[in-house]
Amino acid sequence: MAAPKRIAFLPGDGIGPEITDEGAKVMKATGERFGYTFQIDFGWIGGSAIDRLKNPLPEETLTLCKQADAVLLGAVGGPSWDRNPPELRPEKALLGLRKELDLFANLRPTTLFPGLEESSTLKAEVLQGVDFLVVRELTGGIYFGEKFTEETPAGERATDTLVYTEVEVERIVRRAFEIAQVRRGKVTSVDKANVLESSRLWRKVAERVAKEYPDVELDHLLVDNCAMQMIRRPADFDVIVTENMFGDILSDEAAILTGSIGLLPSASLGEGHRGLYEPVHGSAPDIAGQGVANPIATILSVALMFRYSFHDDAAAKAIEGAVNDVIASGARTMDMASTESLALSTEEVGDKVVEALKKYQ
Ligand code: NAI
Ligand code: MG
Repeated sequence: MAAPKRIAFLPGDGIGPEITDEGAKVMKATGERFGYTFQIDFGWIGGSAIDRLKNPLPEETLTLCKQADAVLLGAVGGPSWDRNPPELRPEKALLGLRKELDLFANLRPTTLFPGLEESSTLKAEVLQGVDFLVVRELTGGIYFGEKFTEETPAGERATDTLVYTEVEVERIVRRAFEIAQVRRGKVTSVDKANVLESSRLWRKVAERVAKEYPDVELDHLLVDNCAMQMIRRPADFDVIVTENMFGDILSDEAAILTGSIGLLPSASLGEGHRGLYEPVHGSAPDIAGQGVANPIATILSVALMFRYSFHDDAAAKAIEGAVNDVIASGARTMDMASTESLALSTEEVGDKVVEALKKYQ
């Protein structure tokens, strides 16, 4: 058997510990079926790390992550830390982690689950066949450009700058093409090339990279048009690649197409195989400690871990298949159930996924 995979296990705050327990359970069960063992190293992060170690991202946690093959994160934050000064804010840990690990590609898949069509705000026929992935650039663009406010005779003047280098664009676009190769072979590059210089660079680099992937089709959409097409004809998209701020907005739009926030996984990747896997949702302080949170977003994040860090699509598909079967069987946590009496606990849903995995090899 191969060397154990090292997992930095960072439950975080709120519902984080409840959902990551289920994620770890499914990870181990998948490992048993597909020939993996794990060394799971716990680390403090976010508010709980502030309480204990006065630092949202303690050095020990960062070291763990740098030595790991993959990071499994719950969520950070909550009302007890809302009034903390900037250096003691839980979310500072997330930005620090992404930067320190140079995780420049954020992936969010949007898929449809059986029987949940009614929980979307879109008509079932528009949603038919929806299965796409937003690849968002995470470490450049306007969030990281020069920013300042100055006094002028006309009052205060505030400036933000949107900067991208060829190298930054190329690595994220390349990642999108690689992903499209093992999906349906289509990349939609989203920009605002009619007005932005950085978008014209983006488009030029995308065209150049595309020549190296003749098996993948490339088209371009302006971001305003993309926002519209995503709700008009979402089934037409395969891989959407875009810069940081456009990706922030489009990935939230994509997220609500198919229903509950408790179902949506994400992966953040760099150049190597190491990745950070976490649900899209936050720490849900309103339901923390009750054992009712939906663990599926975290479980599907574990599927992404197998796909993108361990390059094992079969194991990833097994988890996704098991989740699909569990949802199709009518199993629901509170956020998806039609009545409270039908709702299962976090742990019960995790157990059902483990049970359903037995069907997959
Ligand atoms: P949230 O995503 O935590 O919760 C929004 C709503 O969705 C709540 O009603 C919550 O109960 C529900 N919800 C979320 N996840 C669920 C799940 N797995 N199962 C069932 N219901 C679920 O967003 P909110 O309330 O804006 O933020 C709460 C805290 O989380 C804040 O401190 C915020 O800063 C933090 N946060 C952390 C993130 C992260 O760690 N990546 C991302 C977003 C927010
Ligand atoms: Mg956002």
